[in-house]
Amino acid sequence: MEWKWKTIIEPFKIKTVEPLGFTTREERLKILDAAHYNLFNIRAEKVLIDLLTDSGTGAMSAAQWGGIMTGDESYAGARSYYNFEGEIKRLTGFAEVIPVHQGRAAEKILFTLIGGKGKYVISNSHFDTTRANVEASGAQAMDFPSKAAMDFDKPAPFKGNADLAAMEKFVREKGAKNIPLCVMTITNNSLGGQPVSMENLKGAQSICHKYGIPLFLDCARFAENAYFIKLREKGYGCVPVRKIAESMFELADGTWMSSKKDAFANMGGFLALNNKDWASKARQLLILTEGFATYGGLAGRDLEAIAIGLREVLDENYLQYRLRSAEYFGEGLLKHGIPIVNPPGGHGVYINAKKLLPHIQPRNFPAQSLACRLYLEGGIRGVEIGTLMFGRRDAKGGFLPAPMELVRLAMPRRVYTQSHIDYVIEVLGMIARNKKSIKGLEVVEAPRALAHFTAKLKLGR
Ligand code: F0G
Repeated sequence: MEWKWKTIIEPFKIKTVEPLGFTTREERLKILDAAHYNLFNIRAEKVLIDLLTDSGTGAMSAAQWGGIMTGDESYAGARSYYNFEGEIKRLTGFAEVIPVHQGRAAEKILFTLIGGKGKYVISNSHFDTTRANVEASGAQAMDFPSKAAMDFDKPAPFKGNADLAAMEKFVREKGAKNIPLCVMTITNNSLGGQPVSMENLKGAQSICHKYGIPLFLDCARFAENAYFIKLREKGYGCVPVRKIAESMFELADGTWMSSKKDAFANMGGFLALNNKDWASKARQLLILTEGFATYGGLAGRDLEAIAIGLREVLDENYLQYRLRSAEYFGEGLLKHGIPIVNPPGGHGVYINAKKLLPHIQPRNFPAQSLACRLYLEGGIRGVEIGTLMFGRRDAKGGFLPAPMELVRLAMPRRVYTQSHIDYVIEVLGMIARNKKSIKGLEVVEAPRALAHFTAKLKLGR
């Protein structure tokens, strides 16, 4: 009999290593000050554990590095393009495959084509670059998250779902002709990396079909979403994850991907669809800003690495380890009484700073204050998803805080081991015990849009 072991291990061994950036607390205090309490301004060498993003930060496999060496750098018709195209066609079933340099380039091209004033794009939740590209076209980006998503404490299996009833009501009110697209973001990054169920995807598909609205998937983390379906949705426990992924794509008319996530690539993305007219117009735009149709802003070696990564990511040993790592991280924080978006998503843990630090008002950026303290105490970098990122001014210049104050700790793929995560949990445990000593921040200088990237802050009183 084969024993079923409880310990889920990293399903790889390490061939190449990179040193971490150790600093002292005293150095970090000076670094934070010089960075104006904005973690985007810190040199990565001065970060010990970098959980800023899981985008482009993954470790490539030996097979991917092999592909990098054999990549075909021809301008037109490179072999690497055909490997890339073939892999994406087999996975998604879409006939037209357009390479782009990263996810937002696909968004820019698509919404330039189909967006425009008076139109609405509907979604479970747009990621911020998606929203920005929809709005840059003149259209409005409308989110219909499920109600379960807004209760951070209470676990639910598919908090990434769309509220389909609200979505359909909106379609009826505005008229389908004003809605050029519905996009389901899998997993739902803006709401904690939470998965969308197959049932919800089917529901969205049936609404789209009924009203003649094309359905696209923003599939940056499609494999994580597919494995969540395998683990949590009735009837999928014995279905191979690749089959689940294929079934998700079968429901849609097209997709785009930031391949910096679930394709383990440091750069790249694609737009894939069946509509030949849209594809031919998209290629015209591609040539204007990205490059020729068979490389789209990427080197041949990048195309090769993505093709290999898309196969590797569907390895179930990898996905089991990946989702268990985020779960383990979340469990560790909950043991210290740290409130998180529960359960953890696929690509990391989101701490609820509003609940942890009730003594800091939204105008003093509780989540950013926590992120800065995490760097100060442990050299750990996360990212604020709160009032610094989403705070607004009303028409009279009054302050409008964001609805949530989260710190996202995103886990790069295949990069950190369990002891790195144990260290982060230990540091956060100490911070939580001394949370009253955390002070809020004040703005010194901030632009109107995308303030979180460049704002300058100082410690409040
Ligand atoms: N869609 C989703 C769901 C994303 O998470 C991202 C990027 C994009 C689109 C845009 O792709 O960066 O390749 O242009 N998310 C990164 C993050 C930046 O940190 O979550 P991109």
